[in-house]
Amino acid sequence: MSASVATPSRSRVFSGVQPSGLPHIGNYLGAFRNYIAMQETHDAIYCIVDYHALTSTHDAELIRLNTYEMALGLLALGLDPERATLFRQSDRPEHVELSWLFATVTPVTWVERTPSFKEKRRNQPEDVNHGLLTYPILQAADIAIYHAKYVPVGKDQAAHLELAREIVRAWNARYGDYFVEPRAVFTDSPIVKGTDGVNKMSKSLGNVIDIFAEPDVVRKQVMSMVTDTQRILRTQPGRPEVCNVCQLHRFFGADYEVIWDGERTARTGCVDTKRLLAERMIDFFASARERRAKLAAKPGYVEEVLRAGAERLAPLARESMGECHARMGLGPLR
Ligand code: TYM
Repeated sequence: MSASVATPSRSRVFSGVQPSGLPHIGNYLGAFRNYIAMQETHDAIYCIVDYHALTSTHDAELIRLNTYEMALGLLALGLDPERATLFRQSDRPEHVELSWLFATVTPVTWVERTPSFKEKRRNQPEDVNHGLLTYPILQAADIAIYHAKYVPVGKDQAAHLELAREIVRAWNARYGDYFVEPRAVFTDSPIVKGTDGVNKMSKSLGNVIDIFAEPDVVRKQVMSMVTDTQRILRTQPGRPEVCNVCQLHRFFGADYEVIWDGERTARTGCVDTKRLLAERMIDFFASARERRAKLAAKPGYVEEVLRAGAERLAPLARESMGECHARMGLGPLR
């Protein structure tokens, strides 16, 4: 990693994931694939965003446990601490300081209109805390503090990324060009639908297919998937373009067109296609599951990775904050 925050030797990527416990197929296909690919080609920084999680849960043990689980999952899936920096957000509290500084250049209307705020206000009416409103400002700070240019995320984060760009632009306009306007990077499956076939796959909606669950649980989740709702009889031809099971086959085997053809000609039924998908997913993640078990058995390993990651980032975070203090008028007379 380069010594200066503003001039990394390779262009920098940053992304964050909430500590929601075990990762699901949506996380993997929408974002984590790119995390892992981009660690080979970029200066890659990835973060488990426990400060963000506080906006939706106040269960301390759960946040700690889920942070560990998500970090372990990422490492098992191929995130390599020799190639990328993985850390826990609360180990670099400068993120929160920068989010305050950014808040002072962010009009209230920008955060009030954020779709995720509106959604959360609907979904957790008993806990519309101020953090929900500030959430995207903290997200902008996460990215900007390391001057990351690219942000691998799923499409559900597109509005947050757009807002991050606007916040950076507003700050640069007032205090001079310093922060980089980040750009979202999507995979070819930027929105993975859940087992209900309608909504985005999401833990809070209970429609996920887990990566590290026991194979029988994965089978159950896949078998519960909604397919082409217009295909009522087994003898009726299916429409792979609208069937979520068929769509997912694209990522778990090279012969998805043969499978699609089977559906179109009614040679195969939805149940056959689901059974095959479940087995392919289980095989696809078998080595990651083994690696997870091995890493979990090493006492203190995950904690050491997170600690070292946060430590490596300290000079970069401090450099950004020093520059902000200087430009914004904080600190003693100069
Ligand atoms: P989070 O924790 O909800 O999701 C982590 C990543 O997984 C992607 N993802 C999906 N992609 C496609 N289809 C799906 N069904 C699906 N479900 C999840 C998400 O798009 C995301 O990339 N606000 C962020 C965390 C965050 C962040 C950041 C991201 C905080 N600071 C800075 C990027 C940069 C979130 O809640 O992601």
